[in-house]
Amino acid sequence: MKLKYSTRLVIILKNVVIKIPISRRGFLQGRNEKTIWVKYNQIAPLAELKWEWMGIVCQKRYSQADDISTALVNQIKRAIPEFAFTGCDLYNFKNWGVERKSFILLDYGINKHISTLYKQTT
Ligand SMILES: Nc1ncnc2c1ncn2[C@@H]1O[C@H](COP(=O)(O)OP(=O)(O)OP(=O)(O)O)[C@@H](O)[C@H]1O
Ligand SMILES: [Mg+2]
Repeated sequence: MKLKYSTRLVIILKNVVIKIPISRRGFLQGRNEKTIWVKYNQIAPLAELKWEWMGIVCQKRYSQADDISTALVNQIKRAIPEFAFTGCDLYNFKNWGVERKSFILLDYGINKHISTLYKQTT
């Protein structure tokens, strides 16, 4: 088991990850992850959302990507209008995983409003 800590406490288990909000921003990210999943999981490569409850999110676990192409980020930004704002962190490879050589977006809770809220610094 591995822990990552930023806007959410992320518990990485063998097959799933659990993301627990530690701020209002983290809570909104979790709620929004559910909204984006329901709206776009058929058309975009989003990490499988198993359940969401009170801003806590459980996703399938993927291996971490070690790079991400700008072309792919731009493609997903065109498909999901909520991501069309400058300063979105989809260009960061740490927000991407891989499965059978395809890239999967792991962190899709962000939108323009949420991105303007304070960021937890630790
Ligand atoms: N489904 C997943 N499978 C494997 N690793 C994951 C998964 N989701 C998240 N991670 C890992 O945990 C890290 C933090 O998760 P995530 O980016 O979703 O949280 P966050 O609260 O939005 O953090 P940040 O504000 O730093 O982006 C990711 O960078 C990734 O390394
Ligand atoms: Mg992230």
